[in-house]
Amino acid sequence: MGHALFLHTLIRDAGGLALQHFNSRPAGFALKGPQDPVTEADLAVEQFIRSRVAAAFPDDGFLGEESGASGGENVWVVDPIDGTDNFARGIPHFCVSIAYVVNGQTRLGAIFNPCTSELYLAEKGRGATKNGLRLAVSENPPACSAVELGWSSRVSRSAYTAALHRLLDAGANVRRHGSGALGLAWVAEGRTDGYAELHMNSWDALAGLLMVREAGGVTTEGADSGERLFKGGPSLPQTCFWHRS
Ligand code: IPD
Ligand code: CA
Repeated sequence: MGHALFLHTLIRDAGGLALQHFNSRPAGFALKGPQDPVTEADLAVEQFIRSRVAAAFPDDGFLGEESGASGGENVWVVDPIDGTDNFARGIPHFCVSIAYVVNGQTRLGAIFNPCTSELYLAEKGRGATKNGLRLAVSENPPACSAVELGWSSRVSRSAYTAALHRLLDAGANVRRHGSGALGLAWVAEGRTDGYAELHMNSWDALAGLLMVREAGGVTTEGADSGERLFKGGPSLPQTCFWHRS
């Protein structure tokens, strides 16, 4: 089976497992750090994906939010549940996000919200789709744009509020829904006009950034190569959300 087909099956199965956990989740949640929750589902879904990848492509590398990195030049970059805080609070806005990086470039991206059955897929040079329909970014002018601004405790309060002010000054309606991966998928779909975050980890960003580019949008480059793969970086440092590439 080719990598793209494998990925489509894998993310649907992983999303099904995440949904089972969501529907039977316990009350309350554990924290990895301040404002950084983790649930049993994060660990179980990542383990599921890791073992399926290892069985199908034993020479490939793996980088997961929960279990870290292991060998191989071509890397599967995995967020088992993005939007964990939403998941733990019973809010059906979370997803599984998987990117496949070949020679420092994201070749494939997949994002699946199992609560809404929305499956976003992108392949470099071949476009992006949601449930089989082609995606295109919006063309709204700044004065009627809606932009999601992601937040995490990795960024200082002053830097976050400065970014918020810049977006408001540009005339944007600023939102935050709590899943960076779905935030980028929504830009690809044209539901929102931009997604900005001063620091994102690669497992939150790579699939969605490819999706935005393949839907005709502009993103920061280089998040999939070298150190940025492991340390993360900004998603869209400039408010370039209303330009098409
Ligand atoms: C977080 C979410 C959030 C984003 C953070 C991420 P998690 O991931 O995507 O929306 O703003 O940067 O760390 O904790 O839900 O996997
Ligand atoms: Ca995440």
